[in-house]
Amino acid sequence: MKLYIDHITKFVSKEKVYARRDEALGYVKALYEKTGKGSDFLGWVQLPASVTESEIAAIEEVASFYKKNAEIVVVIGIGGSYLGAKATLEALSDNFWTMKENENPKMIFAGQNISEDYLYELIDLLETRKYGIVVISKSGTTTEPAVAFRLLKDHLEKKAGKTQAKDLIVAITDEKRGALRTLARQEGYRTFVIPDDVGGRYSVLTPVGLLPVAIAGFSIRQLLQGAADMQKATGPGVPFEENPAAIYAAARNELYRSGKTAEILAGYHPKLLYVTEWWKQLYGESEGKENRGIFPAGVTLTADLHSMGQYIQEGLRNIFETVISVERTAHKLRIPNDPANLDTLNFLSEKRIDEVNKMAELGTMLAHVDGGVPNIRIEIPAINEYNLGELFYFFEIACGISGYMLGVNPFDQPGVEAYKKNMFALLDKPGYEEESKKIKARLQ
Ligand code: PA5
Repeated sequence: MKLYIDHITKFVSKEKVYARRDEALGYVKALYEKTGKGSDFLGWVQLPASVTESEIAAIEEVASFYKKNAEIVVVIGIGGSYLGAKATLEALSDNFWTMKENENPKMIFAGQNISEDYLYELIDLLETRKYGIVVISKSGTTTEPAVAFRLLKDHLEKKAGKTQAKDLIVAITDEKRGALRTLARQEGYRTFVIPDDVGGRYSVLTPVGLLPVAIAGFSIRQLLQGAADMQKATGPGVPFEENPAAIYAAARNELYRSGKTAEILAGYHPKLLYVTEWWKQLYGESEGKENRGIFPAGVTLTADLHSMGQYIQEGLRNIFETVISVERTAHKLRIPNDPANLDTLNFLSEKRIDEVNKMAELGTMLAHVDGGVPNIRIEIPAINEYNLGELFYFFEIACGISGYMLGVNPFDQPGVEAYKKNMFALLDKPGYEEESKKIKARLQ
């Protein structure tokens, strides 16, 4: 992975970014020595190197069980208990995986919404399929996954019988606490633990991300190797000039100081859409607090050049853009020559599609910079497990550094409670009687 900040210098000089060297490296040290805010939630920092062979083997064993016993595995979770696995699977899978045969179970996600139609149509699909469930919730009490699990558990038990259903369900949750842990113990489900000191959005390299990825047939060893190598490349002792995470954190904070309050993560491959969603959660929940924070947005290009492109080019000038650029595609395809040339595209004859995509990328970057949008570029050699592992760890450690630079605790999310409180009050949850009265009075 390579990071380029050359195209921000028209807006913020390299000297200004590099002037934050000591501050950034101080925060790398704080993350390792657990001396900063939220220090109880730093288990993820050493995670790639600390996952043991027996943990990997246990995950692979469950994955091979599902391969033999299920056509579909439904992964239930929301936020950090969903987006890492979803991002990895989308990025690594064939674009048309839903329509193609594959020797591994097909992965479907639930519990990330409370849509009645979504759940009804999912159950309708599962009616005739052999399926298993991986239910993921660190707290074990989150409403969305709990509702989905209640429905699917009931469905699976009726369909396969209680004993077989028990074998087809795996729970990933806190080691001791929470309703899901109690349920798993009572029902005798196989379980994996989300470590106490790893928050949801930093949990992609725990069983939360690793189990679904292994079930889908991808290499979690490569994913972890990429992350471990990135840990080495960004750890304490690495000089600022060689630490991409420290540079990215310093650059985005300098841009923020200069009035660029929104960052758009852009990809040129639709497979990366959920990497952007994962990144949005990571940075949004980590930095958006105390009336501060860079607003994280995402686009998939070139598709969104025909929708968001106008705004990025000429709208409010508070944006900077970070592009994930992929050096090599997995396949090769050339544009055919057409003697009639009615579409006037013969100037592209025999060119690789990726060459056109790359020129769109370069042309867009230059246009956006000319239009007042600074550009950071992250280049990965190809979309594969190893490079995704690198990318995940890079963004996580950079987020920790960046959040500290911003002066917030990047490891809590107090604001997420507000909607839950109102929802419970509106639904008359026991214990919310006072809140129910107040909120209902507001609605009259
Ligand atoms: O990053 C976070 O901590 C959150 O997004 C959580 O992952 C999300 O709210 C789901 O929580 P839980 O795993 O407890 O169900």
